[in-house]
Amino acid sequence: MKVLVTGGTGFIGSHTVVELLQAGHEPVILDNLYNSSIGVLDRLETITGVRVPFYQVDLLDKEGLKKVFDENDFDAVIHFAGYKAVGESVAKPLVYYENNITGSLNLYRAMKEHGVSRIVFSSSATVYGGDFESPLKEEFGTGTTTNPYGTTKLFNERILTDLAAADQELSAVLLRYFNPIGAHPSGLIGEMPNGIPNNLLPYIAKVATGQLPYLSVFGDDYDTPDGTGVRDYIHVVDLARAHVAALSYAEGHTGAEVINIGTGNGYSVLEILHAYEKACGHEIPYKICPRRPGDIAVCYADPSKAKELLGFSTVYGVEEMCRDSYRFTKENPEGIL
Ligand code: NAD
Ligand code: UD1
Repeated sequence: MKVLVTGGTGFIGSHTVVELLQAGHEPVILDNLYNSSIGVLDRLETITGVRVPFYQVDLLDKEGLKKVFDENDFDAVIHFAGYKAVGESVAKPLVYYENNITGSLNLYRAMKEHGVSRIVFSSSATVYGGDFESPLKEEFGTGTTTNPYGTTKLFNERILTDLAAADQELSAVLLRYFNPIGAHPSGLIGEMPNGIPNNLLPYIAKVATGQLPYLSVFGDDYDTPDGTGVRDYIHVVDLARAHVAALSYAEGHTGAEVINIGTGNGYSVLEILHAYEKACGHEIPYKICPRRPGDIAVCYADPSKAKELLGFSTVYGVEEMCRDSYRFTKENPEGIL
């Protein structure tokens, strides 16, 4: 299939482009490079031998978007493009709603006007809120989101569900990601947070490579085996593979379908820290600190629907996630330029 990948030079998008090419698809990337670098295209070419067509276009630019659709006959869209920093979304809700909602509406309209009827959307486990007990199942519905970022994911799920109800041709696969980490085993592409990272793995990676002094562990008094928060970490290459499976599913089905993408296993902050120590071969300093506001104790997926509908299950474990994260961070201390 010829696939428009919005946000395709970003963390998850770039890994998905590799898997799409390896599965025989024809990806075209659209990205405004707000949170990624043009250098990713060279890295993708080194990994796959293919120069992927690229448009530097903002989803808020309707004319630019129209041109991309006019010049290509897409069979499907995978929609990664969006802002994703939780704290920033609380401080700048208008910016987040405009980019993640208005930008997405522009995309959905362009798809409709050009007769493109398959979409895979990047949603998040954040739409469950703190309302349900893990393992989280799709049939639980959605909970109360705690920040504008999460609300933009919830709204996009609703919008695509409404669009699919009104258009019998449309197939929308709404993937709820758990915690994607790791990097491509080549060490050429990975996660590149701007400034000081908010999420656990990029933070540990910077401590392990000496760029930050220690990890702050946010709370050790949760109701979990070692008191620290438990999450479902998934290797980004597994997550990328899930998108290829979702495209095949979209080809054979119509309607909107919500699907968790996780491993089904929960790991605590300290378990991840110790796994990372094994990967990098030395101790990683940490301090126990107060809980982070808005955090929940435990969050992991019931991955059975992904297995049933997509035939998808993960192949990588925490060891590979830490190994690949460390390799990428060590080999690219400045990120990808
Ligand atoms: P990322 O920031 O690395 O990639 C997103 C890409 O979208 C970036 O390259 C950015 O430049 C681009 N972009 C942003 N706004 C744009 C716009 N208006 N027009 C064109 N391009 C734009 O993020 P990621 O980690 O790869 O996440 C991809 C998607 O998955 C996002 O929608 C994110 O919210 C979602 N998600 C991520 C996680 C995670 O932990 N990384 C978890 C759940 C869901
Ligand atoms: C966070 C977001 C979530 C988003 C997801 C992926 C919050 C409240 N939630 O999820 O909406 O979908 O990222 O982008 O921000 N931790 C530390 N020290 C750190 C960083 C994290 O101890 O420096 C702990 C956290 O308390 C948590 C675990 O590590 O228990 C994972 O944190 P993080 O990587 O930020 O992911 P989530 O909180 O699950």
